[in-house]
Amino acid sequence: MSPVTVTGPLYTTIYVYINIQKTVMPDYTTFTETIGHCHDVLDEIFLIHQEAVLLGRFDDAIQLFNCYRELHDLHKAFEDEKLIPKFNEHGNHGRWPASLYLQEHDKIRELMQKTENYLTTLSNSELDGRNLRRNIIAFLDREKTFKGYCEHHQDREEEGMLPELDDLADSGWRAGIIGPFVEEWENCVTHNTRTVKKILMTWETTVQNT
Ligand SMILES: [Fe+2]
Ligand SMILES: [Fe+2]
Repeated sequence: MSPVTVTGPLYTTIYVYINIQKTVMPDYTTFTETIGHCHDVLDEIFLIHQEAVLLGRFDDAIQLFNCYRELHDLHKAFEDEKLIPKFNEHGNHGRWPASLYLQEHDKIRELMQKTENYLTTLSNSELDGRNLRRNIIAFLDREKTFKGYCEHHQDREEEGMLPELDDLADSGWRAGIIGPFVEEWENCVTHNTRTVKKILMTWETTVQNT
């Protein structure tokens, strides 16, 4: 199938992404702001990935999903290795226990793998016309399970564990672990942003050539 051409909203997407890079940078002093920012970046990359699916650009959709996964896994590892154990040390005084966040991480890993498998199947389907459109709809319906679960989990973290941990942990300990994580996170964002921008520029070229 030849790539579907795109119109106005694509440009908006580029600017939304650039805006995230330049204007929504947190000061990285609290877990709520730091991880909240990670979630915003992840949401935006996931949306660009879904745009690629809608456009029938499956190679791009796979690459974008890989960018999403790399960043997602980095932030999840920080939560698993640093935040949740510390949160657990303080006992179950929060809205939700530490064990729930871990269970949700396991479920997210499982759903992410399923989503990746569905995407590979769609990409290899070699369908066109109505069949392709219907398969894209079916894929997005399935992907909604993963997307909805992640949104729910992020909301839970932003309303529960993160602000609760900001209150519990002293600022010296916070600063000592946020600094190295942010450095790693920003390197990962820079490297993946290159891929995202390169893909978006190919879409832009398609528009200019039509
Ligand atoms: Fe998480
Ligand atoms: Fe998170």
